[in-house]
This record gives sequence, structure tokens and C-alpha cells, in this order.
Amino acid sequence: MTAQGEVLVRVEDVHKHFPIKQGIIFKKEVARVHAVDGVSLEIRRGETLGIVGESGCGKSTLARCVTGLHPVTRGRIEFEGTDITTLSKDGLKRFRRDVQMIFQDPYGSLNPRRRVGSIIGDPFAIHGIADGAERKKRVQELMELVGLNPEHYNRFPAEFSGGQRQRIGVARALALKPKLVVCDEPVSALDVSIQAQVINLLDDLQDELGLTYVFIAHDLSVVRYVSDRVAVMYLGKVGEAAAVEDLYGTPRHPYTAALLSAASVPDPDEAERAERIVLTGDVPSPIDPPPGCRFHPRCPKARERCVAEEPLLTVKGADAPDHVAACHFPVEPGERLAREHAAIEQESTEPELPEVSS
Ligand SMILES: Nc1ncnc2c1ncn2[C@@H]1O[C@H](COP(=O)(O)OP(=O)(O)O)[C@@H](O)[C@H]1O
Ligand code: SF4
Ligand SMILES: [Mg+2]
Repeated sequence: MTAQGEVLVRVEDVHKHFPIKQGIIFKKEVARVHAVDGVSLEIRRGETLGIVGESGCGKSTLARCVTGLHPVTRGRIEFEGTDITTLSKDGLKRFRRDVQMIFQDPYGSLNPRRRVGSIIGDPFAIHGIADGAERKKRVQELMELVGLNPEHYNRFPAEFSGGQRQRIGVARALALKPKLVVCDEPVSALDVSIQAQVINLLDDLQDELGLTYVFIAHDLSVVRYVSDRVAVMYLGKVGEAAAVEDLYGTPRHPYTAALLSAASVPDPDEAERAERIVLTGDVPSPIDPPPGCRFHPRCPKARERCVAEEPLLTVKGADAPDHVAACHFPVEPGERLAREHAAIEQESTEPELPEVSS
């Protein structure tokens, strides 16, 4: 949560489609999943960009494109000015030193049969950096950095708690001093009390090491707590993006407004007063997304134009230049959306993250 500067990553009109094939001998493409469908955004050096949206909206796929784990179907991703979508194998390997991921599942992402020292040392092994005693020393420094006891170097993942296992994942991600760390729902699988510890650790490390984060979550309160700016995704597209206080203060996209109203309100008195916009219907399939505005089947403000014409991401009213929304009929400050249009239930109704001083 530091002041942001120049652009570190520029994502331009990125598409990632997964073909669905059928046939026994000659496999033929019969449809495609439009997992990410024309996303443009910037990640600035030193900031935390939050990405939020319901399950299946393309957050992880976008993260994998940005970190070079998925080749893109179309579009450009510039990292420090270089297009990474056209890098050679060697170039990609060098790029992967600068960009690391932390995953949701601290259980599934660690091999149970390997000792944590060797797991954390993986990046050194892959890139042929530091060997033997030198590698052990550097791994133990990393363990200390993330709040693990370096003497537990020879233990197995099962001997650690969930929060400690996520610390192992953080240590491994930081081994090569990356410039960008993409955290894909890093605390979603953890107890709320442990969530705060891991988030505070990430925050401290950001200050200490000058890291840039992309922080993905479906829980709006977590994203608000950690982010400088937030992008809201819906069905493979960005619906709205803004500085955190602008997005939560004056949401312009009806989907953002609905997500915010559905988010849990910790104070029961306030919860009773709070207007919950209830929207019906499931998220449509990314195989055949609705025409025009993808949100129109669930939007309380939808009109004919929304079906005919896709809205572009633009600044609305007197909003800040970096507050953009893709909507023909944006929410006005203080406007109340219709309630009868049934809700986007948030995936999680966990209480708001407790404040823990770091
Ligand atoms: N490897 C894949 N092959 C086919 N479809 C995929 C693949 N990965 C993700 N998808 C689909 O792409 C869409 C977006 O998925 P994902 O990026 O995981 O969303 P999120 O992280 O927001 O929950 C979903 O419909 C998902 O089923
Ligand atoms: S463009 Fe229309 S359907 Fe889409 S969010 Fe705006 S008002 Fe709703
Ligand atoms: Mg995901």
C-alpha cells in the first residue's frame, strides 16, 4: 500500500479462449470458453491492484496470462516495456524470475512428500542459483523473512498449519526477488483470523522489498483492505476500475453496486438499514456470452441499448481520470437500484476482515 509510480505491466486487449473439442479421431473445435475476453489494464510499480468478481469470471485465467503461464489467444502484455506474449523460451524463463504467483490452496500447492526447505529452494534449483550450503542459508533467510522458524527446514508440509503453509508459498514466491507477485485468492482457504496475519505479512513484505502485487479475491472486504486500485471483472471483462476509495465510495457499474450491497455488513443495525440489491439469475455461460453488455440479463438498469451495443470503459461524470466503467446508464451518486431484480449473492458471506495492526 505505497504510492504508485510508473506502469510496470500494461495489459492490452487480452483474450484467452479455451477451445472445446469433440470427435474421436479428428477432434474438431465445437465451441470456445471466452474466459478472458478483451481485458486492458495497467499495473503500476509499488501498488496493489485488486481484482474482484464472482467465481468463473476469468480472474485466475487473467493471472496466468500475466505471469506467462498461459499463452494468450490475442492481445499484448508488456512487462517493463517488453511484450511477453512473443518471448522466446529463454526470454520467458528470464521473465518468470521477475514474476511469481501465490496460490489459493496452501495444501494442494505443496508436495506432501518433500521437505519445506527443498520446496522453498525450488526456484534456486530451477534457475541454477545457489547450491548446497549457500542454498540452505538463503532458504533459511527466506523462512525467517516470512515468520517461519528456520530450524523447521527439514519438516514436511503436513507438520505446518494452514497459515504457516501459506507462508511457505510466500517464501517460495519471494526466493528470486520478483518485481511482481500475483496472489490468486491467497487467503480464501484460511480462517479469518489467519487471513489477517497473512495479509499483514504480504503488506510488510511489500514495504520492505518494494513489491508490486496483483491481489485476486472474490471477497470485497479483503480486496478493499489490501488494494490501492481495484478492477471488477464480469464474464471475462473489466466492468469497472478505480482507486479503492472511488470504487467503494461511488460505484458506477450496477454490477459493482450490487456486489457492494450484497457484501456482508458487520454491524447488525446497519445490516437492517442497508439496501441489498437482489438480482436474479445465474452468471451466464462464458461459452456463449450475452450480446451487448454482458451484464444485461441481470442488470436492474438494463434497457434496449444495453442488448444492442457493448459499452466501453470510459470515465463517467466528474470522476477521477482513472475511474472507468463500462456502462451506458451508470449509477449516479446516491442513486438506489431497484431491489426487486434479485441478487448477486456473494460467494462468501464471511465477516469483514478484522483490523490487525502491523
Ligand atoms: N484450462 C481450462 N480449460 C477450459 N476452460 C477453462 C480452463 N481454465 C478456466 N476455464 C474456464 O474459464 C472460465 C474462467 O475461469 P477462471 O479464470 O478460473 O475464473 P475465476 O478465477 O474468476 O474463478 C470458467 O468458465 C472456467 O471454467
Ligand atoms: S450497460 Fe446497461 S445492462 Fe450493462 S451495466 Fe450498464 S445499464 Fe446495466
Ligand atoms: Mg480463480
